Amino acid sequence: MAFSESFLTELTERNDIVDVVSGYVRLGKKSGSNMFGLCPFHSEKTPSFSVSPDKQIYHCFGCGKGGGVINFIMEIENLSFPEAVEFLAKRAGMAMPEEENDWESRKRSRMLSLNRDAARFFYTQLSTPQGSAARDYMAKRRIGPATAKNFGIGFAPDTWDSLEKAMREKGYTDFELFDAGLVRKGKNGGYYDTFRNRLMFPVIDVRGNVIGFSGRILGDGEPKYMNSPETLVFNKSRNLFALNLAKKSKSGYIILSEGNIDVVSLHQAGFDSAVASLGTSLTPEQARLISRYTNQVIIAYDNDGAGIKAAQRAIGILEKLDLKVKVLRLNGAKDPDEFIKLKGADAFRNLLEASENQIDYRLRTVTDKYDLSVDEQKVEFLKEASDLVARLPGSVERQVYAMRVAAMSGVSADVVTKEVERLRKKLVNQASRSEARQQSRPERQFQPEDKALRYDDPSSAAAEEGIIRLLYLDPALARSTALPDREEFSSPALGHIYSVLRDKIDRGETPSTATLGGALAGQEMSLLVSLLQKPELLSRGEQTLADYIKRIRDRKEQGRQVTDLRAFADKLRETKGYEG
Ligand code: GTP
Ligand code: MN
Repeated sequence: MAFSESFLTELTERNDIVDVVSGYVRLGKKSGSNMFGLCPFHSEKTPSFSVSPDKQIYHCFGCGKGGGVINFIMEIENLSFPEAVEFLAKRAGMAMPEEENDWESRKRSRMLSLNRDAARFFYTQLSTPQGSAARDYMAKRRIGPATAKNFGIGFAPDTWDSLEKAMREKGYTDFELFDAGLVRKGKNGGYYDTFRNRLMFPVIDVRGNVIGFSGRILGDGEPKYMNSPETLVFNKSRNLFALNLAKKSKSGYIILSEGNIDVVSLHQAGFDSAVASLGTSLTPEQARLISRYTNQVIIAYDNDGAGIKAAQRAIGILEKLDLKVKVLRLNGAKDPDEFIKLKGADAFRNLLEASENQIDYRLRTVTDKYDLSVDEQKVEFLKEASDLVARLPGSVERQVYAMRVAAMSGVSADVVTKEVERLRKKLVNQASRSEARQQSRPERQFQPEDKALRYDDPSSAAAEEGIIRLLYLDPALARSTALPDREEFSSPALGHIYSVLRDKIDRGETPSTATLGGALAGQEMSLLVSLLQKPELLSRGEQTLADYIKRIRDRKEQGRQVTDLRAFADKLRETKGYEG
C-alpha cells in the first residue's frame, strides 16, 4: 500500500529516531552531533553504530546498514515497510490511513482470503470420514496432530469438485478459483479441483498469508508433488516453505532441506528453523530472504547425487551474501526425515553440531570423485586436494588438513605438506601482485559495503553518488539543470535510487528516508544513507552537479573507446597485422 507524504512525515516526526533506537540500543558517547552505540545488526565490541538526531538517520560504520526510523524498525523487528509503518503508527498513537482500494490490491486480498479459506477447508477434511486415507498416511509418516495443526496440513478429498463447491458457497467465483490455481478448466468448459486425494501443505509467507499449496500424493505414484502455479500472490522463487515458522526460531541458524516432509519432520523433532525451497533449486532471492533472518545456514539436502549437486550450487549462492554455510552429512539415511526416524532427534542434533565446515565438505567431495586405489587417480586427487588445503588462511589449519590428505592417500605427510606450502607461496604471490594492481587504482576501494551492489565503474559511480547526494539535499537543483537519464548510470543500484528520488522530486515531494523507504530495498537504503554521510558542498551546487554529469558521460565515452580499441586489437591479431 502506498502512504501519502504527509502521513509519513507526521509519522517520522512523532517517532524520534533517538527515542525509538534507544528502545533497542544503549546510546551514549556523543561525538559531534551523533550518538553512538553497539550495532544491533552485527556483533562488535566497540560502538560503530551512529544515530543522527539532526538528520534522523542511523548508520553503522561497521556493517554499512543505515536508514531512517522506519528502516530501523523493518530491520530490527523483521517487518516489511507497511508493517513497520503500522508498528510506528501504533507506537505514536496515530490512526492508519484508509487503504487505497485499487483493483490489483483488492484482487490480491481476495486471492489471499480465498487461499486461507481453502486451507481451512483442507484442514477440516482431515477429520472427516473420507479423510481416513490421509490420516493413515500421516500416521505412516509419523506426522502427529500437533504438527499438522502447526503447519496447517490438510487433505484434498478424492473428488472432482469438493473444494470448488465449498468455495462457491463462501461466495468465490470459478474465475477467482481458477486465478488462484485451485481449479483447472476441463475440456467441456467446466472446472475441476486441481488438488485431489493429496496431503496438502499450505505455503505461508513471512507475513502469515497463505500464498499457495503443495500437495503430496498419499503413497507412491506420479507426480509425487503438485504445487500451485505462479499467481498474483505466489512466486516460487521468492518464498520458502516454513520460513513463516523458522523466522521465529531462536537457534541462530536456518536449516535448508529439500522436501516438505523433511521440514515437517525436522520441526516435529524440535528443529524449528528448517525450511525448503518450493521444488526448485535455491534462488538468489530465497538466499536474500534467508539472510534477513540469520547469518548461518546448515544445508541438509538429500543424500544422493542430485542433493550433492544442489548443495554445491546453494553454497555458492549463499556465500555471495556472506552467510556462513555448513553442510550436514547424513550417514545411513536418504534424507533428514528418514534419518530422524531411524536414529532419533538426538542423533540429528549431534549431526548438526558436527556439521562440516566447507573445507571438510569440499575435501570429501574431492575424495568421492577419485578411486584412490588407482595410482593415476591418486595423483589427480593429491593435486586437487592440496590446492584446496593451500587456500586455507591459517598455517595450523593447513598442517592439520595436509596430514589428513596424506593419511587418505597413503602418501607421507611431509610430501603433502611441502606441496601445500609450495602452492600456498604461489597463491600468496599471485594475491600480492593483484593487490598491487588494485592499490595503484585507488578507486577500487570505493565500494558499497554490500557485495551484491559492487560498482563496475567506481569512478563513474562516485559521480553518480554525488548527483544523488546533491538532489537529496537540495531538490530544487532538479529544476535548474538538465539531468541525466537513469540508463546513463553505470551502477544499477544507484540508477534505481536515482529514479525513485527523481520520481519524488518531480511530484513535488521532499525526499526523506520515510518517503523513499517504500520504494527502495533495504540494501539500497543503506547505500543511500552511507553516501549521504560523505561531504558535499551545496554552495556551488549547480556547478558541482554539472561536473558530476560530465564525469559520467566522459567515463561512458572512455569505456566505448576502450571496447573499440580492444576489438581493433583482436582484429589485428586475427589478421596478423594485415587489414581485411
Ligand atoms: P518424501 O520424503 O519422498 O516423502 O518426499 P519429500 O517431501 O522429502 O520430497 P522430495 O525430497 O522427494 O522432493 C523435494 C521437493 O521437490 C518436494 O518438497 C517438492 O517441492 C519437489 N518435488 C518432488 N517431486 C515433485 C514432483 O513430482 N513435481 C513437482 N512439481 N515438484 C516435486
Ligand atoms: Mn524426502
